[in-house]
Amino acid sequence: MGGCDLIDVAQEFGTPAYVVAEDDLRSRARAFLDGLAARHPDSDVLFASKAFPCTAVYRVLAEEGLACDVASGGELALALRGGFDPARIYFHGNAKSEDELRYALEAGVGHVVLDGVDDTDRLERVAAALGAEQEVLLRINPNVSGDTHAAVSTGQADSKFGFGLAEAPAAIDRVGASPHLRLVGLHCHIGSQLLRLEPFTQAVSALAQLGSFGVYNLGGGLGVAYTEAQEPPSVSDYLATLVDAAHRELGPEVRLLIEPGRALVANSTVTLYTVQTVKRNVSTWVAVDGGMSDNLRPMLYGSAYEALLADRPLARGGERCHLAGKHCESGDVIVRDVVLADPAPGDVVVTPATGAYGHAMANNYNGVPRPPVIFCRGGEARMVVRRETYEDLMSRDAS
Ligand code: LLP
Repeated sequence: MGGCDLIDVAQEFGTPAYVVAEDDLRSRARAFLDGLAARHPDSDVLFASKAFPCTAVYRVLAEEGLACDVASGGELALALRGGFDPARIYFHGNAKSEDELRYALEAGVGHVVLDGVDDTDRLERVAAALGAEQEVLLRINPNVSGDTHAAVSTGQADSKFGFGLAEAPAAIDRVGASPHLRLVGLHCHIGSQLLRLEPFTQAVSALAQLGSFGVYNLGGGLGVAYTEAQEPPSVSDYLATLVDAAHRELGPEVRLLIEPGRALVANSTVTLYTVQTVKRNVSTWVAVDGGMSDNLRPMLYGSAYEALLADRPLARGGERCHLAGKHCESGDVIVRDVVLADPAPGDVVVTPATGAYGHAMANNYNGVPRPPVIFCRGGEARMVVRRETYEDLMSRDAS
């Protein structure tokens, strides 16, 4: 990874650890930026920062020239710390609080993405109190279901996100009439980990029914390969499909925004674990020093991952195992039915493609400190987030 030997990285920083290949992350950012700009110059790529909200990742993606999507006050604070120009930040959320909106406006965020009637009323009050005129996009629910896990499907009519197609015209009129809100365009995000492109095209057609606007933010959602069997569309096919649909349905003059999260960061990163125990009963259980505290995705969505032994990744044959975590639940299994060659305590195990929503959804279940984030580049490994300590676990105790 980035010229570093992962066994050395495991020894130096301990496990579990998230390890990011920095140049890989940068080149994914450029593939999106250059690929979109080549097809449609009046465009921008926003980092959907919920996927990997870590200051160093914000910093790298700000340096590469991306704009940023934040979905809470906390993500906004991190994006600002990471160096994003507030004017290029888009503030999302289906239940933004007044405090969050005030913080966003005071920080000078370029756009707020309005999600509903109450959100609009609240932003209008906050903007009026600050004497501001805030540029906004309206999030539209296009009534298009991407073919993905129900928990991350957002474009169907029965969703908590956005204005439905039927209520959108009234919302457009209402925002258009506000002295404190300036409607610049529409947004949609139909879901995440989408492995087919047709739903994106359908969403663009749905937006086109609502009139003509200057800006269209078509969201994120491009799927990635977690395992060898998964075949996501390429970034260039994805961009070509979106831009073709936009030119056809919305016209060539619009400003186009996209906000990838997963496809920017997932495959830039691996997690390192150390095997603690191997137990054989009906199955073979290879248990490591992390699990559902550093990767909730297998438990939340039944997501599949692969696992390799760091010092013999190409070893042929071996034993069918379940790679289990250290947490006090039987469901805490990181990878089921993985073939590992003679696994033993002390082996370093690597699970690829953990950059998206791994660190983001990490937690302290069982009082397990959250892992560090290590960036590797040019043979150098540097820690950008340290491992949590037991003191950190007590740092919010009020008495
Ligand atoms: N834009 C909006 C408004 C979103 O809600 C999301 C993701 C994105 C962009 C980025 O989507 P992506 O390109 O990453 O698919 N925790 C789940 C994923 C939740 C996605 C939430 N919204 C998981 O681990 O799969």
